[in-house]
Amino acid sequence: MTKLQIQYPPQLVSQVKKRVAGHNLTGFVAGMGPMHPRVMLLGEAPGRQEAKTGIPFVGSSGKELMKMLALAGLTRDDVYITSVVRSRPFSIRQVQDRKTGAMVEKHPNRTPTKKEVLAYAPLFDWEIKTVQPQIIVPLGNTSLQRLLGPTAKVGSLHGLPQKTTILESLPDDSGYEKGQHQYWVYPMYHPAAYLYARRLEPTVRKDWQEFGNWLQRN
Ligand code: URA
Repeated sequence: MTKLQIQYPPQLVSQVKKRVAGHNLTGFVAGMGPMHPRVMLLGEAPGRQEAKTGIPFVGSSGKELMKMLALAGLTRDDVYITSVVRSRPFSIRQVQDRKTGAMVEKHPNRTPTKKEVLAYAPLFDWEIKTVQPQIIVPLGNTSLQRLLGPTAKVGSLHGLPQKTTILESLPDDSGYEKGQHQYWVYPMYHPAAYLYARRLEPTVRKDWQEFGNWLQRN
């Protein structure tokens, strides 16, 4: 497994952490992989396994993602992997334990809020300028919309590459503006989407196979 974990500027990390203080977020998982890669995979936020190990995409979504990468002729070591939020968002639920009947507190994963994605935006802006990928593969709507705005939907854009500028955070952190640099953006479904909706699997497999063909042609 690639051991190249990126070192973020500590000042930027503490600025971001201050902005999400009090939110239900835990751990901190740095992006990982080679500098100047051909492909950057962009997820949503770490899950439980990732927050525990500090390595992106090692849980059930990660295992599925590695199978899809293989369909494109790629391995984890070939790509840079990160996500738009660096800590695990969780919700707090009181549930009844089936065996004992006692109420217990659970902390399941949840999708990061728009506010949390914006809080982490300066860190991702820095990361993308430092890593300089040629192609960004956003996985699901959270990362796709971070790049292209709220009207972009993975249901209609998956498997369709486009050369485009991407959003970066405004200097006053109040929102986003279009950046200058153009990247190839190749949207894909998030692996968790078809873990929950198996009917999507043939589409997702086809998208990744075609991504492999596209990489060979371009
Ligand atoms: N989902 C993500 O977006 N990133 C991970 O690392 C794991 C699950």
